[in-house]
Amino acid sequence: MSTISQRDSNVTWHPYTPMKVWPEAIGIVRGEGSYLIAEDGTRYLDAISSWWVTIHGHSHPYIAQKVYEQMTTLEHCMFAGFTHLPAVALAERLLQILPGSMSRVFYSDNGSTAVEVALKMAIQYWSNKGIKKQKIVAIENAYHGDTFGAMAVSARSIFTASFTDYLFDVAFIPFPGAGKEEACLAAFTALLQQGDVAAFIAEPLVQGSAGMQMYSTDTLEQLFATAKQYNTLIIADEVMTGFGRTGTLFACEQISTSPDIICLSKGITGGAMPMGVTTATADIFDAFYHDDRSKMLYHGHSYTANATICAAALASMDLLLQDTCTASRQQIADAHAAFGKIITHHPSVAEIRQTGTILAIELRTSSASYHSTLRDRIYRFFISRHIILRPLGHIIYILPPYCITTSELNYVYDSIAAFLEEIRETK
Ligand SMILES: Cc1ncc(COP(=O)(O)O)c(C=O)c1O
Repeated sequence: MSTISQRDSNVTWHPYTPMKVWPEAIGIVRGEGSYLIAEDGTRYLDAISSWWVTIHGHSHPYIAQKVYEQMTTLEHCMFAGFTHLPAVALAERLLQILPGSMSRVFYSDNGSTAVEVALKMAIQYWSNKGIKKQKIVAIENAYHGDTFGAMAVSARSIFTASFTDYLFDVAFIPFPGAGKEEACLAAFTALLQQGDVAAFIAEPLVQGSAGMQMYSTDTLEQLFATAKQYNTLIIADEVMTGFGRTGTLFACEQISTSPDIICLSKGITGGAMPMGVTTATADIFDAFYHDDRSKMLYHGHSYTANATICAAALASMDLLLQDTCTASRQQIADAHAAFGKIITHHPSVAEIRQTGTILAIELRTSSASYHSTLRDRIYRFFISRHIILRPLGHIIYILPPYCITTSELNYVYDSIAAFLEEIRETK
């Protein structure tokens, strides 16, 4: 009998995977809390929440129960001309907890589509008002997804190289890392002064795929305030930072200037099912609220606001808002800080970065990039210890499910410390 892994290698095509050099995929048969259990019985500790989605752990019984109940009541109905309680209740609850004054919730399928919708809202907002503002500004090294609009506002990199000619022009400002804030703000202001910037899109506080690059709340505040000053729409891409990752429920809560549009996905359903959400202020919505049908938002997906997925999101939110979950996030942040202090002067470490439950360890290496020669070595080292830590090139990061226990976290820390020693010895 063939294994799942073997059968897989004949029929599927994996994301972000060089299929020739990396043919093997581990066959997973079960999920349980922080663990993924393989067909050979190995229990893998999922220290990056399965690409940042599984915030409460795998196969959570509460989410499963709510999904089952919804699935056997109303699994789905199209969302044009019809609505249902899970979509309405989820929108009501999101609007209550989101920062700023969000007024409307638009559902889609994933983080990339949440960004596509945001861009379409921002571009059409100005067009509906008859004002010529078309330029989009983003931050260098940004990652906003893999559909064409999302790629356009993402860094031009190896990710987008084959598609560059098909991507619309976007102005990129320097990343506002420590010491570079002034240069970033100056470049941003110069662009805004031209008067044609429709929207500014940013991953607030942490650029995820860029390697967990972090910048200060003060800088985020200044960027948003400057955008407001020049009457430019602000799109906060909270796809990764949302739902408790950065120490607050949403990263934008940590500043006082609010975005006009927020993109959400990943943790929204606790990782149980795919969902994208784009929220907008009343001002944005009003620009589409018109007798003239040409002014409506021309966007939708077959599975928009799928009732079962909305039920999963509501269940995930119940868990997220419990005091025990808030306490767990704080414990993770405290543990990260303590471990970061221990390894910060290690000769294999170039930099330690932390925001909330995210800890990034940038390794000191001459091969510093997404395709760093260290990348596969890091991945295999941790897999051999049954830990899933899929690095971003030479950057190891921990982004755990909030249910991770202290002893599980300590095992991850000890293994990272062992890896730092190993590369010190072989340098
Ligand atoms: C900030 C951000 N935006 C958008 C996306 C795209 O989300 P998805 O992979 O669900 O399309 C990602 C994915 O990593 C992301 O980190």
